[in-house]
Amino acid sequence: MSKEEISNLGNENRRFPPSAAFAAQANAKPSLYDEADADHTAFWAKQAESLVWEKKWDQVLEWNLPFAQWFIGGKINASYNCIDRHVLEGRGDRVAFHFEGEPGDTRTLTYKDMLREVSKAANALTSLGVKAGDRIAIYMPHIPEAVISMLACARIGAAHSVIFGGFSADSLLQRIQDADATIVITADGGFRKGAAFALKPVVDEALKGETHVRKVLVVQRTKQETAWNAERDIWWHDLVDSQSDQHTAQAFDAEHVLFILYTSGTTAKPKGIFHTTGGYLTQTAFTHKMVFDLKPETDVYWCTADVGWITGHSYMVYGPMINGATQVMYEGTPDTPEKDRIFKLVEKYKVTILYTAPTLIRTWMKWGDEFPNGCDLSSLRLLGSVGEPINPEAWMWYREVIGQNNCPIVDTWWQTETGSIMVSPLPGITSTKPGSAMRPLPGVDATVIDDDGNIVGNGHSGYLTLNKPWPSMMRGVWGEPERYKETYWSRFEGKYFAGDGAKWDEDGALWLLGRVDDVMNVSGHRISTAEVESALVSHEAIAEAAVVGANDAMTGQAIVAFVILRGGIDHANQESGEALTKDLKAHVAKEIGAIARPRQIMVVNELPKTRSGKIMRRLLRDVAENRAVGDSTTLADPNVMKLISEGLSSAKQED
Ligand code: WTA
Repeated sequence: MSKEEISNLGNENRRFPPSAAFAAQANAKPSLYDEADADHTAFWAKQAESLVWEKKWDQVLEWNLPFAQWFIGGKINASYNCIDRHVLEGRGDRVAFHFEGEPGDTRTLTYKDMLREVSKAANALTSLGVKAGDRIAIYMPHIPEAVISMLACARIGAAHSVIFGGFSADSLLQRIQDADATIVITADGGFRKGAAFALKPVVDEALKGETHVRKVLVVQRTKQETAWNAERDIWWHDLVDSQSDQHTAQAFDAEHVLFILYTSGTTAKPKGIFHTTGGYLTQTAFTHKMVFDLKPETDVYWCTADVGWITGHSYMVYGPMINGATQVMYEGTPDTPEKDRIFKLVEKYKVTILYTAPTLIRTWMKWGDEFPNGCDLSSLRLLGSVGEPINPEAWMWYREVIGQNNCPIVDTWWQTETGSIMVSPLPGITSTKPGSAMRPLPGVDATVIDDDGNIVGNGHSGYLTLNKPWPSMMRGVWGEPERYKETYWSRFEGKYFAGDGAKWDEDGALWLLGRVDDVMNVSGHRISTAEVESALVSHEAIAEAAVVGANDAMTGQAIVAFVILRGGIDHANQESGEALTKDLKAHVAKEIGAIARPRQIMVVNELPKTRSGKIMRRLLRDVAENRAVGDSTTLADPNVMKLISEGLSSAKQED
């Protein structure tokens, strides 16, 4: 965002107070803020009471900055809280998931069905020798077995590491190695964009690398031809279907590791963010109930995120299931077979709460109002947004066209690291502004500070920091305790720095400004510039690469790469230049995954660097966004930007 854009942010006069009818029935009451302010730990302890504990904790919090332990001495099972308790308390026949495959096949799974399936899967994993503390990699399409696998791991105390199905074999291998996973759960493939894609071959390719993987459990989803390693591979239906459907969940320590989830940081190596059990479950369940105002008996809740991301973990699996929600789960893309697929599903299942990402909202806007207008969306009563800043235009369109001016919107800010929503309006309480995440939730202490660590007031922007520990905070970076301290707690003393810029407007509403570090946000997916650079330089034609996230009307940011070729590489004519950039894009997609494919690659002779050798991305971003290049006086060679701009304007810019 430019300085001017930031100073204009918050000049927003539109306010949308909750209707009296919504406020009257809302789960969240204004007293929540007072309770949390009065006693932070007592507040969170009270929320933890709503879980079923086999043994209650002895101590709510131990805080040795930056290491927190919550609900010490407590014993609890995550899977039990998501499933068994509902069945035992008479809610077993409630639908947990309305699953819809992309081709139109459907499955309905009640809580009782989930208990049966998860018990069988837990018995199957145990029969493979899986023990508490082991790590299991899950690499799946978006189908119920992904959720069943996660809960089966939680049931027996194995940590799951879900790897989004769009990641490449290299990325998968790196994550399997880092967590030292011993079992991989996958599928032959899944359905996307009207066709079957394959997943198992990616696992086969990854496992050519050195790992301790003993078995690969394969769900048959598409029935495509699948290469088989008889020693290692087992069909899910062969192993799981024949297991007993009885299984007693074992309680684990509140601080037992529940899962690892890899996310991009500012270096090339993704970080294995790990979360533990008691605190994570407490805050995901609490926030899910309050922010989405869930009424489990009547609501149909749909979070469109894939389980491969934190949003799927916290707001499709753990939060909603603890709260006994009925959910929709959809396998495919929003435009298959037509651009109204999501709206058709809202109509079909009478969805009441929809949680999605700004990039999809903007895509819907582009496709046109006729698609939502052609469906009955009157069941909707609340809308949520997550993953990136939502621009006021998209917010208004979401409200008017999807919500028919009748649904509060919750713009929820949080991260893989925070585990749960941290900043969001509370429906029924907060009078919202289009594009603002409004204010920290009760129990969350957030401030905006300047470069020197001074707290800034209304009308000012700076860095978003969190000052007090919260129950669902990450407990560390897997295998790298120092990296946790350094990355999150070293920039500002005593504070967690999230990597995001933020601004309080004159009314004290909070606006998120995007990342201030070298992390890009493409369609709500985090990708580090260093990761893409390292993929590019692994290509034989590339000597050096610099990558920036440039503003993109549809995807928020798009990846733009500047590359210096090795000597002797010919890209001079149009044909060889185009072939090269095409090849480079494919190379990055192969190394990391399709989500990291650059939108644009520019071949340059020099990169702008400071005297200490740091690439000045700010200047490259100016070029990528077609702006006049800003202050370049700190460059080692002040002429570089002129040379880059001239070189580029004479060359064909590939798009
Ligand atoms: C960004 C996704 C503005 C932010 C839950 C954060 C947002 C990163 C919002 C975390 C929002 C997420 N408004 N920006 N409502 N939600 N972000 O770990 O930059 O995939 O640091 O977690 O997404 O991405 P992650």
